[in-house]
Amino acid sequence: MTDLTLFIGRFHPVVVHVPIGVLLLLGIAEIAGRFRESLRLADGVRGMILTVAILGAVGAAGCGWLLGRDGTYDEVLLDRHRLLGFATLGLTVMLLLLRRRPRGYGLTLAVTLFVLMWTGHNGGSMTHGTGYLAEYAPTVLRPLLGGGLAGVPAPETLAQVDVFQHVVQPVLDAKCVACHGDSRMEGGLRLDSFAGIIEGGEHGPAIVAGDAMESLLVRRLYLPLDDKEHMPPAGRPQPTVEDIAVLEWWITADAPAAGGFLALAPDPMIVDAVANQLGLPLPELPDREAMFAAALELEKELGITIRPLAEDEPWLSASARLAGDEFGDAQLARLAGIAPALHRLDLGTTAVTDSGLEQLSEMTELRMLRLDETAVTDHGLIQLAPLRRLTSLNLHTTAVSDAGIAHLTSLTRLRQLYLWEPAVTPEAVTSLEAALIDQRRIDRYRDQIATAQRGIQAEVFSSDFGATLLELPATEPEESEY
Ligand code: HEC
Repeated sequence: MTDLTLFIGRFHPVVVHVPIGVLLLLGIAEIAGRFRESLRLADGVRGMILTVAILGAVGAAGCGWLLGRDGTYDEVLLDRHRLLGFATLGLTVMLLLLRRRPRGYGLTLAVTLFVLMWTGHNGGSMTHGTGYLAEYAPTVLRPLLGGGLAGVPAPETLAQVDVFQHVVQPVLDAKCVACHGDSRMEGGLRLDSFAGIIEGGEHGPAIVAGDAMESLLVRRLYLPLDDKEHMPPAGRPQPTVEDIAVLEWWITADAPAAGGFLALAPDPMIVDAVANQLGLPLPELPDREAMFAAALELEKELGITIRPLAEDEPWLSASARLAGDEFGDAQLARLAGIAPALHRLDLGTTAVTDSGLEQLSEMTELRMLRLDETAVTDHGLIQLAPLRRLTSLNLHTTAVSDAGIAHLTSLTRLRQLYLWEPAVTPEAVTSLEAALIDQRRIDRYRDQIATAQRGIQAEVFSSDFGATLLELPATEPEESEY
C-alpha cells in the first residue's frame, strides 16, 4: 500500500533533529562566546545558523503535520505537541529578528531551548508512551519523571502483594491499556488506574463493586469474540481464563483500591494464578523431611498407610481404611502433625464421626477425601468448608442427604462427588453443580482451544507425492482460500 502523506510524514523524526542540533549548538556557542572573544559568533554567522534552524523547523513541522493526520496518536498529546512545535518555530523566527539586541536575544534563546526540550519529550511520550523515560530510571527519580506506580518495588512474597497494584492493574496494563490509557482513551475509558476504572467511560463506571456480572468491564469480556462490543476487540491479545477469574474475583471482593491480597482470603485458584503470574512461591510449603518423619511415626502408631505423592514434594496420601473400627475421632486428631502436607485422605469404613471432622479444618491442601461407609451426616459436612482445594469427595454409603449437599457450595474446586442415591436427589446435585461450575469459564476455554487450533492449522505444512504431473487434472486447481 502506498501512502505518500504517511511516507513523507514519517521523515518527521529524522528532520526534527536538524533544528534541535542547530539550536543546541547555537546555545553552546553563545555561552562560549561570552567567555572567550575568539569564540564569539559574527552576526552573519548567527543569522545563517538561525536561518538553517528555521528551515529545519519548517520542514519538521510539515512532516509532523502529515504524520499527525494518521489518527493513531492521542489527541491531547498531539495538540500539545503541535502547539509546542509552532512555539519553537515562532521563537526561532523571533531570535532571527532579535539577533542584534543582546538582552532580549539571550533570554529568548534560553526560552527557545526550554520549549524545544519540552517539545521533544512530549513527542517521545506520543510514540513510546508517557512512562517511557521513567520506566528504567533509578527509583528516586521516577516520580520526577512521571513514573508513578512503576517506582514501587516488586513484591517478593505473596504476603507483600497488593491486590490492585500487583494483581489487577498488571492484567489491565497487558491487555487493555494500549487502547484505554492516556495516549488512547477508547470509549472515553481509562483503565490505567483505579480512578479511571471508577470514573468509567461513555456508559458510566466500568465496574459495580461486589457484582462482577453487572460490571461493564467483565460483561464485555464475556461477549462472543465476534460481537462488535467484545473486549479486547478480536485480533488483539485476549485475557486468559486466569486473567478474567482474577478480575472477577477482585470485583466480587468489593473492588478495593489497595490492600493486602492474601487478607481478602482469595480462592486457591486465584492464589495459584497470581503466584504464577508474579513468579512468587506459594505460601509456606510444608517441610518435606519433617512431614515424612512424622508420617513414619503415625504409620506405626495408628496402623495406617501414608505414602509420599511425589519425589521432590512434601505431599502425602494417607489411608486409614485398613484400620477400620480401630480408627476413630481420637486417631484422626493425631494426624494434625501432617495436616498441612495431606493431599489425599481415605477415612472410608473407619469409625470417624461428625465431631471428628472438625480436625479436617487444618488440612487445607486436601484434594481428595473419602468418607464412604462412615457415620458422617449432613451436619458434619459443614466442617468441610475450609477445604477449598478439595476436588474429589466420596460420601457413598453414608446418611448424607440433600441438606448436607447444600453445605458443599463453598468448595469451588469440587469436581467429583460420590453419593448414595436414596438420600440424595438428582435435583440437589444439579443445583450444587450450578453453584460450583461456571459455564462461561468453560466456554472461554473452548474459545481458547479454537483459537489455538486455528493457529496450528495456519502452521501445518503438508506435501503430497501421490499424483504425478501427468495424472493431474487438466483443469485449473480450485481457488485457494487465500
Ligand atoms: C485495540 C483496542 C482496544 C483494546 C486492547 C481494548 N479495548 Fe475496550 N474499547 C475499545 C474501543 C474502540 C471502545 C469503544 C467502542 C465500544 O464501546 O465498543 C472500547 C470500549 C470499552 C468499554 C466500554 C466503555 C464505555 O463506557 O462505553 C469497556 C468497558 C472496555 N472497552 C473494556 C476493555 C477491557 C477490560 C479491555 C482489556 C481486557 C479492553 N477494553 C481492551 C478498544 C479497545
